[in-house]
Formats: sequence, structure tokens, C-alpha cells
Amino acid sequence: MRYRVVLVLFLAGVTATSVVVAATGPTTEPTTGPSRSVNDGIYSAIQVARGKKSYSSLCARCHGDNLLGNDDAPALVDNDFLGHWYGKTLGKLVDLTWKKMPTDGPGRLNRRQSTDITTYLLSENGYPVGKSDLPPDAGVLNGILIQRAKQ
Ligand code: HEC
Repeated sequence: MRYRVVLVLFLAGVTATSVVVAATGPTTEPTTGPSRSVNDGIYSAIQVARGKKSYSSLCARCHGDNLLGNDDAPALVDNDFLGHWYGKTLGKLVDLTWKKMPTDGPGRLNRRQSTDITTYLLSENGYPVGKSDLPPDAGVLNGILIQRAKQ
């Protein structure tokens, strides 16, 4: 009888402990904040090529064929551009293109196009190509940090 009570109390304790562990998760891996960066090969060469095509037809008339900008629109390469973005997430950059570009008629791009074009910009800024496409999901894009390119 006494043994049974002890066993029940023991099992209740084990269950309570597992619930706490499951709720808090492992402490070594943070569950928030970017976990990857633009230096990790996060998009494919085919995606960059698709982005380049869209850039040429939708963006180049203002930002230039070589992304150097002109009197009306800023450059999208080098420190002039990247200086605004270091430390921010890729989600923010894709969102800006998706919601605000082109400035004379925003809202025409879908998220996949905006993501493809962004991979073209990243590739022109010296970030490495990887094996698979970067998905347009905000959850994924918000987990990727814009850092200085590794030389
Ligand atoms: C009609 C001209 C025009 C077109 C077309 C255009 N842009 Fe822009 N873009 C601008 C101007 C002007 C700015 C700066 C002011 C602003 O941010 O609203 C800008 C800013 C930007 C920025 C932020 C630059 C920075 O330094 O942070 C990005 C990124 C960008 N454009 C991407 C694009 C992409 C991608 C396309 C094509 C889908 C595009 N733009 C098409 C005029 C244009």
C-alpha cells in the first residue's frame, strides 16, 4: 500500500518534469532571432537568373542595368546600399521591394518575384550561391541576417 503511494507520487513527479522541459525547450539553442546569414549559400544560381530577368524588366530603368543607380534612384550595390541593411533580416529587404517597389506603381510584384530579385541583388553584392532556392516565406526570410560578405 505504502509502496503504491510512493510510486504514484514518483510518476507524477516525472510527468511534471517532462512537461516543464517540453515547455521551455533545450536551453542551448535559442528559438528566436536569425540563425543563418546571407553568407551561408541560401539561394540557387537558377533563382538568381530568374531574379536578374525580372530586375531587367522592372527595376533597371531606375536603378540601372549595373545596379549603380542614377540621379533618381539609389545604387543597389556596395556600401552605399548595404550600409542600410547590415544587421537587419532578409525579410525586411524582401518586404521593402514587395511593398514599395517600383516607386511609381508598387504592389504589382508577388513575393516569389521579390525574393528572386533580392537573390540577384545579393549575388551582385558578392554573396555566395548555394544549391537550393530561397523560399519566399516570411518565417524563413526573417531568420536570415544580412552581414558583411566574407572575402
Ligand atoms: C520609378 C523608379 C524606380 C523603380 C522602377 C524601382 N525603384 Fe527601387 N527605389 C527608387 C527610389 C527613388 C528609391 C529610394 C527612395 C525609397 O526608398 O523610396 C528606391 C529604393 C530602393 C531600395 C532601397 C535602397 C536602399 O539603399 O536601402 C531597394 C532595395 C529597391 N529600391 C529595389 C528595387 C527593386 C528590386 C525594383 C524592381 C522591382 C525597384 N527598386 C524599382 C526608385 C525605383
